[in-house]
Amino acid sequence: MKRIAVLISGSGSNLEAIINACNSNSINGKIVCVISNNPDAYGLKRSEKYNLRTKVIKHGDYLNRDNFDAAVDEYLAKLDIDLIVLAGFMRVLGKKITEKYNGKIINLHPSLLPLYPGLNTHKNVIINKDKIHGISIHYVSAKLDAGPLIAQGIIKVKGDQNLDELIERIHKIEHMLLPEIIGLICNENITLKNNKVSYKEIDNITNDILVKNYEI
Ligand code: GRF
Repeated sequence: MKRIAVLISGSGSNLEAIINACNSNSINGKIVCVISNNPDAYGLKRSEKYNLRTKVIKHGDYLNRDNFDAAVDEYLAKLDIDLIVLAGFMRVLGKKITEKYNGKIINLHPSLLPLYPGLNTHKNVIINKDKIHGISIHYVSAKLDAGPLIAQGIIKVKGDQNLDELIERIHKIEHMLLPEIIGLICNENITLKNNKVSYKEIDNITNDILVKNYEI
């Protein structure tokens, strides 16, 4: 059973989707800690509900990013982690930590990368009248929202779609696809080899990425 650390900054709805998937054995893994850089993150409350170990590492307490990363690393090092999941974690981790955990850290991003890295992805989709929107799950490198793409979930943007509805639909597919991908990684059906994502016994691979279209 793989040992998973989940890093969050906010609501933690994706964290809860991962917890449920672990509890129903669709992920062959267990969450050994939840780390938040934000002491007020609602995800910490969700974690307590499931008796998960939590740790707050406030970025504001550290002089610079390297020191913050070192504190995160020091905490993780004690826990023998197989997989780190950034699920709504709003800090960029630097080279030292991303290289150390190369192939063992994944991030969830609410856009079809390389389109719209960073913030305000949903707003940009509406402003640009995009026909499709979606989510990306990728291995983490030191560059923001970059790193080898593992999977994308795609929805059609409705003609009169308002922002809140669009965000809600994106959340729904995040809660399905992220636990599914974590399950595949924990079973070693998805691995990173020489900086390239490798898939075993998986359909829906398009241009080297696992792609799913959702009718919701
Ligand atoms: C998700 O939409 C994720 O894609 C983005 O932040 C949101 C986090 O939501 N990076 P939650 O904290 O999992 O509810």
